[in-house]
Amino acid sequence: MPSRDKIIVALDVPDLAAGEKLVDQLFPYVGMFKVGLEFYTAAGPAAIRMIKERGGKVFADLKLHDIPNTVAGATRALVRLGVDMLNVHAAGGRSMMEAAAAAAREEAAAVGRPAPVLIAVTVLTSLDGEALRHEVGIEREVEEQVVRWARLARDSGLDGVVASPREIRAIREACGPEFVIVTPGVRPAGADLGDQRRVMTPAAALQEGASYLVIGRPITAAPDPAAAARAIEREMEGII
Ligand code: C5P
Repeated sequence: MPSRDKIIVALDVPDLAAGEKLVDQLFPYVGMFKVGLEFYTAAGPAAIRMIKERGGKVFADLKLHDIPNTVAGATRALVRLGVDMLNVHAAGGRSMMEAAAAAAREEAAAVGRPAPVLIAVTVLTSLDGEALRHEVGIEREVEEQVVRWARLARDSGLDGVVASPREIRAIREACGPEFVIVTPGVRPAGADLGDQRRVMTPAAALQEGASYLVIGRPITAAPDPAAAARAIEREMEGII
């Protein structure tokens, strides 16, 4: 896979016009764009259609988490919009994930498209061990819980997980070489960390076993986003 197809650019923007500007600058230097809660809540399905109309792929990072019937319905709606990747919370459990996987498969077949890559969110990286134990009430170590949920996602028929750079290796070992691992918290050498704390360079994250890298501000806040994306791709070329 060429390095540009391994980069997913996070479009954390407040409105459709800002998203359009970035996609026009970045496509085709970047193949996939992440639409998260901010952009989707502001612009709705138009955010996804805008990217698809320009030829880009879409990762709908909406972290679905509800009863199985509701998550299945939302999954079908996202498939009809043409998303290429979407995610649900592993905390929703096996029946919710199985319902999402079945809905993705069935709806994709019905509209004649390949099924989207369906991945799970495990432990949010904003939760540390202390918060997991005392606030959420989960007694396990963070990494143990991450791996437990990654296995559950795989056993429920999902394709992979979103995982921070430091979790990649344990998940890869537990879930095998085909499991998709999508990794945010990536910063090119020397870049501004923003609010990210535990970061890795793109090359290091790929070496750890990441399948895709989610990169936002190092590209979107650069004076020339396309040049920033191409520089990151060159940094990645050496190792894939
Ligand atoms: O700008 P930056 O590269 O930090 O953007 C990273 C993207 O990945 C953001 O959209 C952020 O919400 C998302 N993300 C993250 N850490 C996680 C999960 C998602 O940074 N654990």
